[in-house]
Amino acid sequence: MGCGDIDAGLSALEHHLVSHPSDLLALQLAHLGDLVLGRTTMLRDRIARVLGHWSENDSGYGYLLGMLDFGLEETFAFEQAEVAGRRAVQLQPHDAWAVHAVAHVCEMQGRPAKGLQWLKVPRADWRYDNGMAAHKKWHLALMQLARGEHAQALAMYDETVAPGPEVLSLNLADASSLLWRLQLRGGEPGERWTALAQRWKAQGVWGASAFVDPHAAMAFISAGDRAGLQALRQAAASAAAGPGGEALWRRLALPAIEGFAAVIEGKPVRCTELLLPLLPATQPMGSSHAQRQVLLLTALDAARRSGQQAMAAALAAEQAVHGSRVLPSRQIGTPGGANHTLTPA
Ligand SMILES: [Fe+2]
Repeated sequence: MGCGDIDAGLSALEHHLVSHPSDLLALQLAHLGDLVLGRTTMLRDRIARVLGHWSENDSGYGYLLGMLDFGLEETFAFEQAEVAGRRAVQLQPHDAWAVHAVAHVCEMQGRPAKGLQWLKVPRADWRYDNGMAAHKKWHLALMQLARGEHAQALAMYDETVAPGPEVLSLNLADASSLLWRLQLRGGEPGERWTALAQRWKAQGVWGASAFVDPHAAMAFISAGDRAGLQALRQAAASAAAGPGGEALWRRLALPAIEGFAAVIEGKPVRCTELLLPLLPATQPMGSSHAQRQVLLLTALDAARRSGQQAMAAALAAEQAVHGSRVLPSRQIGTPGGANHTLTPA
């Protein structure tokens, strides 16, 4: 399915939800479509459109709050997001999306200890052999990296993040992202890159997502797989020539792929030249702020390696501000239901 198909599907769902604001499945499909297409504000606003038609007494209201939680987090309303997420988990303890969204809040605020504590709570009735479970382990490993726990993060990779056969492309992207971030911190993934590059090749999922393709490049580049990288470049170039290719592949995915390649080729100045123009414009690639942040981390590392001290300091400051984007508490009203004071637990 291409981005155009998702776009058309979202348009149909948009009209459907105006007349059927209680259709939770349609809301979830649209929410995930907004995530894939990088429609960040719609992650919040699509839920806001229907919120007034729901009350806490309605079955499934917790799931609605879980989606609102993620939308608020992606629009930097972290305190409100966390309160909505914690309430969502109270109402639906097995809502993996709400648990995941609160983890995003901790990630963006630079609270890895809190995030680890939150993610390690055992959840009854959860299965751990699916894509969402692996994604949450990816979040957990990022928090371990933030605490300097490289060995634990690698163990988490080996146990659950390393993709098996026929996983979601986003799980492959998470695997690349984790090993790449570990490498930026001086860690050594070793032969894991070779195994991961083989998984990317076996799945052959590139050319469909401007977010996924640069992650495939990380694996081929780091594994020294020239044939894989060449096949990826050709697929990305074909995508660049197709519908939406100029905005997504030519302006974003292709420079990102070459920027990552420049790191391994020992050309950090070229890396920063390629990645810097992308940093304010990565949203259309899709996925979350936390996932796209690998571009900023790579540019920052390249600036340090190339002795661009002022640029490195500027990018480090940009990275640090994620921990301070905290908005005031307020309330979310739910006509027919309770109001929730938005103060984090
Ligand atoms: Fe996530």
